[in-house]
Amino acid sequence: MLQGKKIILGITGSIAAYKAASIIRGLVKKGAEVQVVITPAGKEFITPITLSALSNHPVISEFFSNRDGSWHSHVDLGLWADAMLVAPATAASIGKMAHGIADNMLITTYLSCKAPVFVAPAMDLDMFAHPTTQQNIECLRGFGNYIIEPGEGELASHLIGKGRMEEPDRIIEVLEEFFSGQQDLQKKKILITAGPTYEKIDPVRFIGNYSSGKMGFALAEECARRGAEVTLITGPVSLSATHPNIQRINVESAEEMYQAATSHYPGTDAGILCAAVADYRPEQVSPEKIKREKEGEIQLRLVPNQDIAASLGAIKKEGQRLVGFALETIGELKNAKRKLEKKNLDYIVLNSLQDSGAGFQVDTNKVTIIDRSEVITEYPLKGKNEVAKDIINKLATLLS
Ligand code: CTP
Repeated sequence: MLQGKKIILGITGSIAAYKAASIIRGLVKKGAEVQVVITPAGKEFITPITLSALSNHPVISEFFSNRDGSWHSHVDLGLWADAMLVAPATAASIGKMAHGIADNMLITTYLSCKAPVFVAPAMDLDMFAHPTTQQNIECLRGFGNYIIEPGEGELASHLIGKGRMEEPDRIIEVLEEFFSGQQDLQKKKILITAGPTYEKIDPVRFIGNYSSGKMGFALAEECARRGAEVTLITGPVSLSATHPNIQRINVESAEEMYQAATSHYPGTDAGILCAAVADYRPEQVSPEKIKREKEGEIQLRLVPNQDIAASLGAIKKEGQRLVGFALETIGELKNAKRKLEKKNLDYIVLNSLQDSGAGFQVDTNKVTIIDRSEVITEYPLKGKNEVAKDIINKLATLLS
């Protein structure tokens, strides 16, 4: 996928700059041509000699190539590239990119770049979490740049948290996926529900569940990567959607999710209902915090929520598709088939809590897909991103 691709690698002043060497090696190995542009601070962390030896190109850092008045053209460079990757991207460089502060060669190149830009942030957890950084990242995302989210783990400061630059192999994979050209969902509009719902009991308590939203977010990324415009309706989760083609709608309760889903579904080609929606909510929401009674029990009366999947199944038009999930602990196949029929789905993705590594909170999943012709396909335990591919392959076939 990367053979012959021209890639500008922008390196900024982070301790993770040493990983840029592995990125260059990986890209060059896959046949890409790499031109490094480094900020003055970046050179404090890795030497241009290492970078030029690995990339087979002189490293560009200054506006002027030497003192005879000749200069590096950031415009030519911006036009030359098939992609620009800024890795590592510090909080300062992200801020400059977001606000057009073109005081070094890297930022001027970014501003001149016509190709897609990928940004892999690297910084301390508190810097990453700061609203300024988050706003700047959102700003870049809004410009259509691709953010390669940092991972969680031990940071250079020895603190543990989110901010560590994504591993070089994964960064290269993101570029490969981008160039893979698998755009079989181009122009398709897809609605996805994800995460848990919170049903209010009083101002400080709710009924919820353990859903992390990871599966729904992985599906949203996969659809967007393949060219779809995604509306992601999500309950409360601590995840970010990275692809610019994902429009995120945050909701809290099943009722809010129902309202958002029923108003958006008619304009889409397909809906994927991955949210763990609460089936019941408290009949009354206490306006004040419920106090502990001196003795005895208290009772909470629950009333049913709308079944979003069944409601969308009822308004599904000819050619429109609907995919559901079934999380079961017993009678898995029987229950899943029943839900497929009852909710008028095109296929259902069954998770069994009997399988270790499947279900809530974990990064892996093991699914079985059952369709309307009762074809049952079992998949092995995989990462949720891989599971998302299997689920979306089936949808792409149905929509083609
Ligand atoms: N679902 C929904 N709205 C609800 C409940 C479920 O949209 N109020 C969707 C889920 O997103 C999933 C499918 O319906 O795609 C099945 O959800 P699940 O919780 O397994 O089934 P339920 O219909 O709630 O049945 P039960 O809880 O009895 O297993």
